[in-house]
Formats: sequence, structure tokens, C-alpha cells
Amino acid sequence: MFLVEKAAKAWRLCRHHYYLEAVSLLTRYVPGGILLFKRSYLVRLKAKWIGAEQKWNLPVRLATGADIGRLAMLVDRERGHWEALRQGRAFCVIAESDGNIIGYEFCHMGGSHYEQTLDYRFDVGPRGAWCYDAYVHPSYRQRGVWRAIQTGITEYLGNSYEFYALVDFTNHVSLRAHLTRGSRIARRFTEIDLWGFRFIFNKPFPKSMLPRLARRLRITEVAGGANILPAAADRT
Ligand SMILES: CC(C)(COP(=O)(O)OP(=O)(O)OC[C@H]1O[C@@H](n2cnc3c(N)ncnc32)[C@H](O)[C@@H]1OP(=O)(O)O)[C@@H](O)C(=O)NCCC(=O)NCCS
Repeated sequence: MFLVEKAAKAWRLCRHHYYLEAVSLLTRYVPGGILLFKRSYLVRLKAKWIGAEQKWNLPVRLATGADIGRLAMLVDRERGHWEALRQGRAFCVIAESDGNIIGYEFCHMGGSHYEQTLDYRFDVGPRGAWCYDAYVHPSYRQRGVWRAIQTGITEYLGNSYEFYALVDFTNHVSLRAHLTRGSRIARRFTEIDLWGFRFIFNKPFPKSMLPRLARRLRITEVAGGANILPAAADRT
């Protein structure tokens, strides 16, 4: 079922001429690990880039160790994943409805982030906060739940932090969500694995690609009225 879903997604990407994304998805399931092609974007957000219309009033709160059981019921993650919360290595903002957790996102400070899926450590500086593992229950998507959670995170840490996240380039929904919230793409991270030989390219995001990406994600403007096209994307 899982493979059928992925194949269907690859087919949809091809129909929209997103061939590189489709190839990337398919290589993740090539048996024997002969070829793997992955690309992610490191997105960066400053609180001052967030427009007022991007703040949502849906109540959210910080999760505690007592919420781990209900988080684990929402989505299947390996056991150790939740330990970051119990051990205080990360905090987690959750949204609830009728006593059920309907969405969450983790965040940690500390200057660097080890991305397990890529076996790579990102250095984001002492005022950098790393946001990861955002998830909203499918029945509650597209209602502003993620934005409310993000609002909770940014308000909890305040303006002096910069917020970073890594988004897979095949995940158009997440990319669109981040960019319409005000994030800028800082770097492009490409991983190619060929018969066990691993090559990693961590480069600044080529700004010349922004208009094409914006078209692809159907974005013309981002939060606060700032344009996503190259001139405005240079803002610091
Ligand atoms: C990505 C995810 C967390 C978004 O949660 P959400 O609560 O649906 O997001 P919101 O309702 O707050 O939407 C925020 C923005 O995201 C974008 N977005 C959300 N769902 C979208 C969809 N299906 N298609 C296109 N854009 C979408 C929109 O730009 C939206 O703003 P808009 O409605 O003003 O246009 C959710 O889709 C999810 O859990 N996906 C699976 C896990 C995942 O991919 N996590 C991200 C890993 S980096």
C-alpha cells in the first residue's frame, strides 16, 4: 500500500513535469541501495518576517512527558524519537481538539542539529532554533493548525531566534507552507548515493531558481506582502 502511494505520487509529479522529484522519490525504493538521490531545502525564518495574518489564535500548548503516549498514538515514530521531549533535549508544541492531539512540531535550540535521515550535522549558530517533525492529523489539515503551532513556537522563543527547518523538495505542501509563512530558502542540500559511494552537496540556494520554484508551488506572494521573487528574497 505504501509503495503504491509513493508510485502514485511519483506519477502525479511526472504529469506536472516535476521529473527530478519523481526520480528522487523512486530512487528511495530501489532495492539494494544502488542509487539514491535526495534533495532538501534548508529554510530560515526570522520572526520579523512573519505577517500579522500568519498568526493564528487556535490554542496550542507545550507538550509534557505525560503527552508522549497520545503523541505516539497520532503518528508512528520509533520509540526513541519521543525521548527528546522527556529528556528536555527539545520542546514540542501541540494542538488539541476534543481532548485529542491533532498536530505537533518539535523544536530545539543549541546551535546545531543532527539530521538522522541524512546522517548530517547542520550548524545554525547560537541563536538558531531547529524545527522538525511537524505533523497534523490528515482530518485537520488545511485549517491553520500547523500555522497555530508555528505561532506557538515563535512566540515561545521570541524575536531573538532564527528558525530553521529542512524540507524535502518533493514535499510541495510543506515547502509552500513554510514559504507562505515567510521563510526563505537558505541552502540546497543534495545527497547522491551510488553503490555505497555517498556525495553530499551543501550549497547556497540559487536565487535564479526562485521564480520557477514559486510557479511550481503556486506562490506569488508571501506573508506580509513581501514578494518571493529574487530581489525581496535577499532581505536579511
Ligand atoms: C505540512 C503540514 C504539517 C501542514 O499542516 P496544515 O495544518 O495542513 O497547514 P496549515 O493549514 O496551517 O496551512 C498552512 C499553509 O500550508 C500550505 N498548505 C497546507 N496544505 C496544503 C495543500 N494540501 N496544498 C497546498 N498547500 C497547502 C498553504 O500554503 C497553507 O496556507 P494557505 O491555506 O493560507 O494557503 C501537514 O500537511 C502534514 O502534517 N503533512 C505531513 C507531514 C509533513 O509533511 N510534515 C512536514 C515535514 S517538513
